[in-house]
Amino acid sequence: MINIQKGRFEPLLTKRSIDKRIDELAKDINIQFKNENPIFIGVLNGSFIFLSDLLRKIEIDCEVDFIKVASYKGKISTNKITTSIKLSRNLKNRHVIIVEDIIDTGATLKFLLKYFKTMKPSKITVIALLHKPESLKNKLKIDYIGFEISPDFVVGYGLDYNQKFRNLDSIYYLKELEK
Ligand code: IMP
Ligand code: MG
Repeated sequence: MINIQKGRFEPLLTKRSIDKRIDELAKDINIQFKNENPIFIGVLNGSFIFLSDLLRKIEIDCEVDFIKVASYKGKISTNKITTSIKLSRNLKNRHVIIVEDIIDTGATLKFLLKYFKTMKPSKITVIALLHKPESLKNKLKIDYIGFEISPDFVVGYGLDYNQKFRNLDSIYYLKELEK
């Protein structure tokens, strides 16, 4: 259990269970996308740890890039999404694999799909470490999901609360918020 600012966080997913799940995802990707030379595109900041762990288990030819979007302030998801670091490379006829830390309402993913489609990739695959199905407000197809979780707010393993706690190697959920 960790106490942060005015909240109390309890363990949800251990480093070990995350590792094990990433192993399974990587094995699948290594089989499915062999000979496709995909470009993994990490969505900053949240996905940086997930992407780096996943990528070290990828054995096929691939490339890596990043995009940065901003859509979140504190605990409340806002609908205003912007790219603050754009992609400069050409994605035409390439297989793009979007790597997200978490898909909550789906607003960010909806924006990203629209953004990438304008670049005419041959295929777009979506991978998210976490997904909160009960929060999803947009009908979207997520190809690979690490874990489906309840709508509680989570931190650790790249995910933040007001930019903090990304460094925790396990994932914690917000149990209580003090008044
Ligand atoms: P969405 O646009 O509502 O799907 O939210 C996506 C983004 O909000 C994610 O990429 C995260 O950066 C952030 N986010 C959503 N839920 C959480 C959470 O529980 N903890 C930390 N960040 C979150
Ligand atoms: Mg994110």
